[in-house]
Amino acid sequence: MEKIRVELGERSYDICMGSDILDGLGDNLKIFGLSPKICLVSNPTVFPLYGERVSDSVKKAGFDLLTVIIPDGEGYKDLLRVQHIYNELLKYKLDRSSALIALGGGVIGDITGFAASTYMRGISYIQVPTTMLAHVDSSVGGKTGVNHKLGKNMIGTFWQPRLVWIDIETLKTLPGKELLAGLAEVIKYGVIWDKELFDFLDDKRDKIFNLDRKAVMHIIKRSCEIKAEVVSKDEKEAGLRSILNYGHTIGHAIETVTGYKKYLHGEAVAIGMFLEAMLAHKLNFINKDKALRIKRLIDSYGLPSEMPADIDADSLLSSMQLDKKAVAGELKFIMPEKIGSVRIHKGITEKVIRDILKS
Ligand SMILES: NC(=O)c1ccc[n+]([C@@H]2O[C@H](COP(=O)([O-])OP(=O)(O)OC[C@H]3O[C@@H](n4cnc5c(N)ncnc54)[C@H](O)[C@@H]3O)[C@@H](O)[C@H]2O)c1
Repeated sequence: MEKIRVELGERSYDICMGSDILDGLGDNLKIFGLSPKICLVSNPTVFPLYGERVSDSVKKAGFDLLTVIIPDGEGYKDLLRVQHIYNELLKYKLDRSSALIALGGGVIGDITGFAASTYMRGISYIQVPTTMLAHVDSSVGGKTGVNHKLGKNMIGTFWQPRLVWIDIETLKTLPGKELLAGLAEVIKYGVIWDKELFDFLDDKRDKIFNLDRKAVMHIIKRSCEIKAEVVSKDEKEAGLRSILNYGHTIGHAIETVTGYKKYLHGEAVAIGMFLEAMLAHKLNFINKDKALRIKRLIDSYGLPSEMPADIDADSLLSSMQLDKKAVAGELKFIMPEKIGSVRIHKGITEKVIRDILKS
């Protein structure tokens, strides 16, 4: 098993990753001094696959377990489901030393983290992520939240988990499209931070597609190390952490104008990464060969990279200006300078952005 420490003073925690480690979770909870009542939150897709193993492990370690199942899907990441979790926690008399376990992808992780951060002014939670996106991104860093009907992830908190427990074997049941969407975030880490990771993704594509244990462990470990380092330096996104948003300014806008139906998050980010690389090229931050190298890697992972023909540039631009990452309508972009390094750039004129979206 590999271990990475997220250094955040008294809120520091370990990310443990390995193959076939779900049964070991319970014993590893004992050190936290939790009350015996624990609640597992999952959904009807993931629970039948891994719920029993996680529940048995937690019960064997002496905990008394409540299970809450919420429906599967982004549409259920809302305050209604949080209310349902609170109801169950109160009925079952979970106290301030109890903990929640999130077993699932980013949706379950975000909603469980949010419920944990607000129940009795904040209790512990443990992330047991089961998608590639959750392994490499959403389970680490403590951003929790739910959607509001007027915007995605608009209600949320920063609340760090006590432990992240990643079993890479869970990827074996993940639909291929979801795996690829998660890999878009790994490509992102390569571009923003680590050329070796980028080259590894290029060299070992087949092994990664075949879920070769060594190759998959390597990319998840590197991704978590990078996220841990960035978050340790800037927990609440005052500066550096925003580099993790590379590809997301345009990506989020694509998701919004297509009503979250046409693209998975990672697919929209993949398009955003190439368009933002072309924007960086237009501003002379990166040469064209390197921008096109980013596109080739995205394409080779079966992810989209071109601006969809049916999306109008003006609606994308207005959506970007409304995004919570924009301050007073001013857009901030993460611009690659070379593979493995980016800069944060503001003040790009609407015309330049529109030209890229239209070209
Ligand atoms: N908190 C953060 O820092 C952060 C970062 C990125 C994304 N997010 C959030 O993450 C969410 C997206 O997460 P996601 O991509 O994991 O989607 P998801 O949680 O919806 O999971 C995708 C699908 O895969 C299923 N699934 C999960 N694990 C499985 C497995 N092992 N086998 C078979 N099916 C499985 C799920 O039930 C779901 O149907 C979004 O809500 C996004 O806002 C949060």
